Amino acid sequence: MSKVIAFAGKGGVGKTTVAALVLRHLTGKKNGPILAVDADPNSNLGETLGLEVTSTIGDIRETYMKDPQGIPSGMDKVNYLELLVEQALIEKPAFDLLVMGRQEGQGCYCMVNNILNNFTEKLSAHYAYMVVDNEAGMEHLSRRTSGKVDMLFLVTDYSLRGLRAVRRINSMLESLKLDVKNLAILVTRGPEDLSEPFLKEVAEINLPIAGVIPNDPELLDFDMEKKSLLELPDNSLSVQAVAKIMNEYLPT
Ligand SMILES: Nc1ncnc2c1ncn2[C@@H]1O[C@H](COP(=O)(O)OP(=O)(O)OP(=O)(O)O)[C@@H](O)[C@H]1O
Ligand SMILES: [Mg+2]
Repeated sequence: MSKVIAFAGKGGVGKTTVAALVLRHLTGKKNGPILAVDADPNSNLGETLGLEVTSTIGDIRETYMKDPQGIPSGMDKVNYLELLVEQALIEKPAFDLLVMGRQEGQGCYCMVNNILNNFTEKLSAHYAYMVVDNEAGMEHLSRRTSGKVDMLFLVTDYSLRGLRAVRRINSMLESLKLDVKNLAILVTRGPEDLSEPFLKEVAEINLPIAGVIPNDPELLDFDMEKKSLLELPDNSLSVQAVAKIMNEYLPT
């Protein structure tokens, strides 16, 4: 079974960035195949990794629903949908990327969703790691990972508002029937010494802080220039901070 690493948190706090940095860390370790999953309908993990995304699971669902009779002869609907998912998988030497894309529109998509979910689950078994970048809500996570997550980072920026979102997600977890093995707060763009009010709020949430990723001007430059975060140098501030967190929480 693959180790599932996922990120959740308020919009814009840095989930996609951290997911890309974790991917960068894991690819450097060469510890088995990695599947990156972009589970945000406004997907941009691919862009952050310098990849062009041409097809998503959402597109496959729409294509099929528009013309359910359009299955090539000699194939049944399960084979056909599985083939489309395989074609949508972006395969790179260091990792593969699957983009979930838009969620369901109107109408009943249950059968198609079941086939797609079963197949993505089957597919994930081939990887040592699965890195899932989520939307701010958590619905995808519970639907796409058969509910099992090895490490869930609740990402917040250095703000009480970000922490309140962390608190809300944390209290939602049980109702989502998620089996989370390990859970920790990850602070982005924070100072070395966190303030008293911030730490007080953290103490009330009662979760450990995995680490703080400092504000990294080099990372921001990469973002502006649309350069892949995989190409950040080893000595960049954010890369080093993520290495420290990963070595403690997911040693390879
Ligand atoms: N440590 C950091 N240093 C500098 N800039 C950062 C850092 N972390 C994130 N950013 C910048 O903050 C912005 C938002 O980050 P990101 O897209 O990762 O957030 P997000 O939580 O995925 O947002 P969304 O909820 O919209 O998906 C990006 O422009 C990113 O480059
Ligand atoms: Mg994002």
